[in-house]
Amino acid sequence: MSRLTIRQPDDWHLHLRDGSMLRSVLPSTSETFARAIVMPNLVPPVVTAKDAAAYKDRILAAIPEEHGFTPLMTLYLTEDTDADDLAHAYTSGLVTAVKLYPAGATTNSNSGVRNIENVIPVLERMAEIGMPLLVHGEVTTHEVDIFDREAVFIDTILDPLRRRIPSLRVVMEHITTKQGVDYAKSGDDNLAATITTHHLILNRNHLLVGGIRPDYYCLPIVKSEDHRLALREAATSGSPKFFLGTDSAPHTEANKICACGCAGIFTAINTMSCLAHVFAEEGALDKLEAFTSLNGPAFYGMAPNENTIDLVKSDDPIKFPRQIWSEDGPVTVFDPGFELFWKVEK
Ligand code: NCD
Ligand code: ZN
Repeated sequence: MSRLTIRQPDDWHLHLRDGSMLRSVLPSTSETFARAIVMPNLVPPVVTAKDAAAYKDRILAAIPEEHGFTPLMTLYLTEDTDADDLAHAYTSGLVTAVKLYPAGATTNSNSGVRNIENVIPVLERMAEIGMPLLVHGEVTTHEVDIFDREAVFIDTILDPLRRRIPSLRVVMEHITTKQGVDYAKSGDDNLAATITTHHLILNRNHLLVGGIRPDYYCLPIVKSEDHRLALREAATSGSPKFFLGTDSAPHTEANKICACGCAGIFTAINTMSCLAHVFAEEGALDKLEAFTSLNGPAFYGMAPNENTIDLVKSDDPIKFPRQIWSEDGPVTVFDPGFELFWKVEK
């Protein structure tokens, strides 16, 4: 197969940042994707409906005229979140979901939740109104090894929470482990999981063997090969539980390629080419549309996009830029480690 037509994809987990970085990175997404769930981990974070409305306006102002794109806004859950403000933001259509960051789990997560008990009333309210909770599923406990943090979170936080509030709709964001895949599969229709492009491609050898690759450092950290294979199986299975959230997370090279580099990989620009490559390798190109364009909208109760895109396999490798420019400095583009041949045509 050398041409595949699919409904226009959506990205169910994306970092767009703000200011000049927003203007630099947004076109890479809006060129191909119709909608994206926009992460709220700005500094300071997007906590209130008012914050979300202002951020949405800044995003809308940055969309290139020729692109049609709808940002789906999220609120950053804190222990002080006002349930009425959050519920109103959802019922009015301003906001699509709420993001739970355990405090300290990742980039700009210091205002996150320290003790889940303190947000139970807000989560109960969300369950009542059907508002999804998007979970960064890693514990931050010092004693827990970074490679085990997702599995421990599932056992000690997520599963007890879901038993306590079974009607809460939950998306396990950017799962990276076999345990994440199995847990998502075991849940009812209130549970789904996103998978990133880079976790389908990288294992921890890519990050660490032959020299450290700061451009492959992200959170949750890439795991061993058996976990990568479990993620590929899940993503290419067609199961409605799994859909694309790129977690494309730009940082300037100065902040990333240094002694204490930030977590986050910028994949927005070549994600669809990478995914077509992965799905073709798995003999599952017929499942790509479910993963990128159908399962996400179905979980969120939205219609899939009407427009389509074509993925066309060329004979020669496609040249993506090595980095994109921003006023704050260059941002490294994800290097999958192999040539890409699938090109998006609209
Ligand atoms: C994200 C970022 O840079 O904001 N980084 C990352 O490694 N994924 C935060 C996040 O989603 O964990
Ligand atoms: Zn993220």
